[in-house]
Amino acid sequence: MDDSPARAGRSTFAWLVGASQLVGLASVVLTGVWMGHFRGGFAWDGSTQEFNLHPLCMVLGMVFLQGDAILVYRVFRNEPKRNIKILHGVIHLFALVISIVGFAAVFENHKAAKIPDMYSLHSWCGMATLVFFCVQWILGLLFFLFPVASSWLRAVYLPFHVFCGLILLVMAIGTSLLGITEKLLFSIMSTYSKFTPEGVLANVLGILLVVFGVLLGYLITKDEFRRPPNPEEESLSVHFKTLTEGQTPASP
Ligand code: HEM
Repeated sequence: MDDSPARAGRSTFAWLVGASQLVGLASVVLTGVWMGHFRGGFAWDGSTQEFNLHPLCMVLGMVFLQGDAILVYRVFRNEPKRNIKILHGVIHLFALVISIVGFAAVFENHKAAKIPDMYSLHSWCGMATLVFFCVQWILGLLFFLFPVASSWLRAVYLPFHVFCGLILLVMAIGTSLLGITEKLLFSIMSTYSKFTPEGVLANVLGILLVVFGVLLGYLITKDEFRRPPNPEEESLSVHFKTLTEGQTPASP
């Protein structure tokens, strides 16, 4: 039997996953270099060095880890679903904790420097993203990890959960782009148009974040890369249909 199309599909998948990881890691490293090298490094004392932790934590937590938490369903698509659910939840938990540290850093810095809170479009989009992220995480936990809902409700909620996950990633990347532009205008307004290294580095960071989002979007939505239904899940779904729609499963 010729399985070359399947093999080609698997190798495309592997290349795309590899590329997404390279681009994601490069985004985190570039954010670190931007804040560490060009903006004076990191500290936890209310200063601008504390602010510098904000972009780093947000790109690492909200973008890179959130993206990878979604990707585990495609990368480990032949592993038992329960293990993948736990991994998905745990990576999201790391993403949430790191993002909260990033939020604390910027709010503390604003407090110490007496800068007003929540005045910018970036901060509004950022707050909406974090709140939406928390709601999605809690609902995901209740519906899928400790299922308190009926299987009917879970089946109805699943496509919505998947859709919201992608929207959240788009929101996180969009918010980061706003934050990058805002930071550049605050710190190098007079030299940005002269193609200074800091401005170019931050622009490249923005492009990498967009590429990460595009790669993730493709990997997640392409049918060929989805998890194949396993026989146990299939039989459960037939049983479920029998119960809900009164259908009789085909006799053996
Ligand atoms: C998903 C990612 C991000 C989220 C959810 C987010 C969220 C927020 C929030 C809620 C604030 C307001 C804090 C306050 O009012 O005290 C803020 C401030 C700020 N963020 Fe972000 N941020 C993200 C990524 C970034 C990135 C990548 C940068 C790039 C440097 C950045 C730069 C800034 C700047 C300059 C401020 C201070 C000015 C302002 O309040 O708008 N942010 N961020």
